[in-house]
Amino acid sequence: MARDILKTLKDEHDKLRALFEQVKDTTDRAVKSRAELLEQIEDNLIPHAKWEEQVFYPAFKERADREGLQTLAEAYAEHHAVENSVIPEVHQAQPGTPEFAGRVKVFGEFVDHHAKEEEKTMFKMAREMFSAEERAQMDEDYETWKSSDDAQKAVMNEKAKAVGAAARQATRQ
Ligand SMILES: [Fe+2]
Ligand SMILES: [Fe+2]
Repeated sequence: MARDILKTLKDEHDKLRALFEQVKDTTDRAVKSRAELLEQIEDNLIPHAKWEEQVFYPAFKERADREGLQTLAEAYAEHHAVENSVIPEVHQAQPGTPEFAGRVKVFGEFVDHHAKEEEKTMFKMAREMFSAEERAQMDEDYETWKSSDDAQKAVMNEKAKAVGAAARQATRQ
């Protein structure tokens, strides 16, 4: 089967859903596994989200009609809410607490909702907008980018930002 960026992005959504399910199965005593799972979630989510924002969404925007542009605006708004509010709140909680469990649950619900919207609306539109060759090319470019220094830097920056934002929120309280 030919490679397809839409399939790769969908598979990554499923991977994230599975990781959030695993967190749900942990107890407050599973401090280490919760911290490790959060790390894995971020390592999977950040390259995905950054690449969507930097490459996929702009390419989508160029060909979108009015409905597509509205869908795109929703997607960006959801990315920003997760980046600026949901993830910092998770980092503000200690993994061995009910607060952490509750906030990660909300994080997972945001990601699942957003992923569903992409799959049901945006990716459906994208399948019409981009040829199979274009989708295969995007998939290759994405794979190359993921193993680049730029991608590593993006992950490190985002993680540092989340921790910094959490620290700022904590001092405000
Ligand atoms: Fe997204
Ligand atoms: Fe996505």
